[in-house]
Amino acid sequence: MGKDSKDTMASGESLKPHMQMFSTFRDKVKRQDSAPLPPSSEVPVEMYLDPDLLKREQTELFDKTPVIVGHASMLEKAGSHFTHDHLGKPLLIVRGKDKVIRAFLNVCRHRGMRLVAEEGTGKTPVFVCPYHHWTYGLDGTLKNTPLKDGFEGVDLSCRNLKPVQCAEHSGFIWVQIDDTKPIDLPDFLGTISDDLDSFAVADQLTYRSDTSLKKANWKLIVEAFQDGYHVVRLHNKTVGRFFIDGQTANERVGKHIRAIVARTSFEDALELPAEEWDDRNHVSFAHYIFPNTIMVYHPDYISHLGLFPVGTDETLVTHTFLVPKLAETDEEKSHIARSYDLIENGVFQSEDYFVCENAQRGMASGANDTLLLSGYEDGIAMFHDILSDGFKA
Ligand code: FES
Ligand SMILES: [Fe+2]
Repeated sequence: MGKDSKDTMASGESLKPHMQMFSTFRDKVKRQDSAPLPPSSEVPVEMYLDPDLLKREQTELFDKTPVIVGHASMLEKAGSHFTHDHLGKPLLIVRGKDKVIRAFLNVCRHRGMRLVAEEGTGKTPVFVCPYHHWTYGLDGTLKNTPLKDGFEGVDLSCRNLKPVQCAEHSGFIWVQIDDTKPIDLPDFLGTISDDLDSFAVADQLTYRSDTSLKKANWKLIVEAFQDGYHVVRLHNKTVGRFFIDGQTANERVGKHIRAIVARTSFEDALELPAEEWDDRNHVSFAHYIFPNTIMVYHPDYISHLGLFPVGTDETLVTHTFLVPKLAETDEEKSHIARSYDLIENGVFQSEDYFVCENAQRGMASGANDTLLLSGYEDGIAMFHDILSDGFKA
């Protein structure tokens, strides 16, 4: 390839949005650009302690936004379903005979029994309420009512399951509790949708999806994943050695953040043409997707984290580990199992959530009125700007 075409690629004309960011970041590092860092800033500790603020976050941010409740690969067949209770409403998510994924309130329309009582995933041709056996189709239609003559004069046609807005997009299942505005994921995601396509998120399979309760405000956990300052320090016994200290970039995309942390092999990218830049090995990409999603693109696998506040100091964290194909050989099985264990237990639980829980413990002590952010923690300041804009929307 000649110099001209190389420069054209590097100028970003034909690069996908996340590789455009890679290109800008690479050029800045290559120039040894010493532009000043973003300014230091502070966040009041009250933001992690105030129950009224949490209520507003849930009603004004979470309820009005499409939120990921699972990966589409969790519902492969007609009748595959799972329950989801972390958004303040009992939800039943199901793939219909027409392949469409729908969400309903998991509440029987007779006397309110939880229709699918079991937690987690299952498969069924119809939903039969355990109490009096009212039976619903996969599309939520009431199909059968035992001893129907007892409901003489009642219009049972308006007793179908209550639907909740739901869409399948970019490989994920999205639910929006508020039904006053339609879900519009292309508009909501902007170019983050291109990134999800570039990382083939829709083609991944779910290896595991685990939920754990962490004793920290949900924002502290988001912040742990917007923070390039800690990577080589907090993670010095696990993955820290794979990264370069202080070489990070954050880019706001609407309500979301696209982030880069340079891996040690990033130095190679400084001399390589754009065609050879490797978005999984020269850097680690991550996304914050408003309001509660973190995506981390490891070299071989993808972590999706969904954060669901329970209280000001409690958050349910669902980690879904996505793989390009399920392991077949013992060697492949062992590789995925070891990677999952390193990331979930070694890095996230023992390191990232460990610091979130221990930051939360001292939050009300009076030691700090604010949390201090350096210019290397600008992703956290960006996150707080997004939240503040979300309240104004
Ligand atoms: S409560 Fe469900 S059938 Fe009666
Ligand atoms: Fe971390």
